[in-house]
Amino acid sequence: MEWYSTERRCPPVSLRQAVLEGLAPDRGLYMPERIPRLPESFFEELPGMDFVSISRTVARAFFGDDVPSADLDRIVEETLSFDCPVVPVEDGIWSLELFHGPTLAFKDVGARFMARLLGYFTSRSGEGGTVDVLVATSGDTGSAVANGFLGVPGTRVHVLYPKGRVSPIQECQFTTLGRNISALEIDGSFDDCQALVKGAFLDQELQEALRLTSANSINVARFLPQSFYYFYGYAQMAARGKAGRLVVCVPSGNFGNICSALIAKRMGLPVEHFIAANNSNDVFFQYLSDGVYRPRPSVRTLANAMDVGDPSNFARILDLYGHDWKDIRADISGFVADDTAIVETIADCYRRTGYLLDPHGACGYRALKAGLRPGETGLFCETAHPAKFKDTVEAATGHPVPVPARLQAFLSGKKAAVPLPAESAAFKDYLLSLA
Ligand SMILES: Cc1ncc(COP(=O)(O)O)c(C=O)c1O
Repeated sequence: MEWYSTERRCPPVSLRQAVLEGLAPDRGLYMPERIPRLPESFFEELPGMDFVSISRTVARAFFGDDVPSADLDRIVEETLSFDCPVVPVEDGIWSLELFHGPTLAFKDVGARFMARLLGYFTSRSGEGGTVDVLVATSGDTGSAVANGFLGVPGTRVHVLYPKGRVSPIQECQFTTLGRNISALEIDGSFDDCQALVKGAFLDQELQEALRLTSANSINVARFLPQSFYYFYGYAQMAARGKAGRLVVCVPSGNFGNICSALIAKRMGLPVEHFIAANNSNDVFFQYLSDGVYRPRPSVRTLANAMDVGDPSNFARILDLYGHDWKDIRADISGFVADDTAIVETIADCYRRTGYLLDPHGACGYRALKAGLRPGETGLFCETAHPAKFKDTVEAATGHPVPVPARLQAFLSGKKAAVPLPAESAAFKDYLLSLA
């Protein structure tokens, strides 16, 4: 299968090239030339299938032309070394828990898949050398990518994060690893970090000096595998007889996660409707209301990983729907939870149900409480473990949040980060020093 750029100003490329390049040369995002529709028989069998078997089928539909089945199956199996269970929260509302991976956030799925697919391509190329993986993070991507690539031969990972804007636990998860992982503490916002990464791909001198790729959700190998757990979430709901009129709510920042859910729907997944839950960074919500996209600088919120003012994957949503605002609105509605609402929701949900939400999941849960119609069942993504946002969650509930051992282990490491201003020249110098 070939992959085209959403900007359509450069020719389509192979999967290998799309994965290695990350961003297309015309600054567009790669999309599959067609979205395969899975057969009816697959959906009939879905409720009885396990996570790995479901994901193998989905992965083959996109990547099967380019990666032999045995390799692809192994990549899927190694990626999914943990479960993504659905858990009832209250009548009609379920949580799709995506935080059971090594870094306790949904990014583990895409990051582990991408590390392995990239490893497959570089090991086969026979070109040797090193691939430099650039990743901008608003919190969780950095740790998932860093941990996914830790020790992968032929790769160096550079994590750019906004100084003072990620939680202390998140920071430990990518600044303490050493080996092939470096952390860059950028004096700016997530949008600045993302702009530095995008700028590096368009710099001819850097392109000639290094083999750069991006591990943000702009990379197809990061964003598409996220569709696996929507099929699996649906399968689990169907097995419980709860998938009749399913509304899926995705706490959204850069919109990679919801994009993979929309692609799952195009592949035939019978989801009735989607809700994109935002924090106060509500450019998508505004777009839904009047059809005008007005990116703006992000503001800090308690759901910091969603502090994005110009979501990259908006381009993919536009492309998927042929830029038709009405069609987009027909499939997706929006919701906004400010910090006050986030705290209230964590407290209220815990008090009434005993379920602990993290600040991102809280936006999703609240959106379902507000938006579900009679007869619908809601499934929201719980995108990170509440212990990653311990201070906020404890302040809201008044109860201690136990920290899982694998998260605790990160806290004992020694922080190492390179401080940099949010300036492309400084970032370029840093990268050239590696060449
Ligand atoms: C915990 C958490 N929730 C939600 C999001 C938003 O996901 P996306 O950027 O794919 O919209 C992120 C992204 O960093 C995250 O880390």
